[in-house]
Amino acid sequence: MDILSAARKRHTAKAYDAGRRIPEEVMQQVYSLLRHSPSSVNSQPWHFIVANTPEGRERIARAAQGGYAYNQAKILDASHVIVLCSRIDMDEEHLNGLLDQEERDGRFRDAAARAGQDAARRGYVNLHRYGAKDVAQWLEKQVYLALGTALLGASTLEIDATPMEGFDQKILDTEFGLNEKGLTSLVLVSFGYSSGADFNAGLPKSRLAEEVTFTFI
Ligand SMILES: Cc1cc2nc3c(=O)[nH]c(=O)nc-3n(C[C@H](O)[C@H](O)[C@H](O)COP(=O)(O)O)c2cc1C
Repeated sequence: MDILSAARKRHTAKAYDAGRRIPEEVMQQVYSLLRHSPSSVNSQPWHFIVANTPEGRERIARAAQGGYAYNQAKILDASHVIVLCSRIDMDEEHLNGLLDQEERDGRFRDAAARAGQDAARRGYVNLHRYGAKDVAQWLEKQVYLALGTALLGASTLEIDATPMEGFDQKILDTEFGLNEKGLTSLVLVSFGYSSGADFNAGLPKSRLAEEVTFTFI
């Protein structure tokens, strides 16, 4: 499918056919999209928890109760659910891990190139740590890029998806021991196939007019 058709066809699935599973080779492409998403200074401040069993989806659905119950069936009836987690800081271990990976991947011609990349990345981290004082928010923005990539990608793969901020973050952080790992849960995405109850599939898209959305200069 061409990318514009995929963007127009994509919609937030509101109800899933609980009997249908996405083939694993299709989900592998979604995982690859997430992993290859761009991030500022290649910070990759994310971790993705994938639930592809009833038990896994049940664990995630614990965070969709009370005021978030409207999202519960979208988690339980989906084929796969991914918790997109964000790092809360760029600590030494992560910074060094990135640099070592870039070295293994052949990004540096010599030691000076490695040192230059390290200094540039740390420069940006320090701008956010001591200047804007917004490291956690800066990192969250990078994770949302991966979210957008996965949503458009899902449409090109002809699977349905639901992004969800409507869940109790504290419950999931505790459920998966995320804070101890320097992580926090940010947003969920369910993947599967819409059921007949997915009212959003039949509704027209609503977007602000082009002249409101763009300024051409
Ligand atoms: C970050 C984010 C969080 C969202 N959270 C929820 C949610 O918790 N539950 C839900 O049903 N839809 C959720 N949505 C879906 C939006 O309401 C939807 O994307 C928007 O209305 C546009 O409709 P469309 O996706 O069908 O084009 C979320 C979307 C995004 C991007």
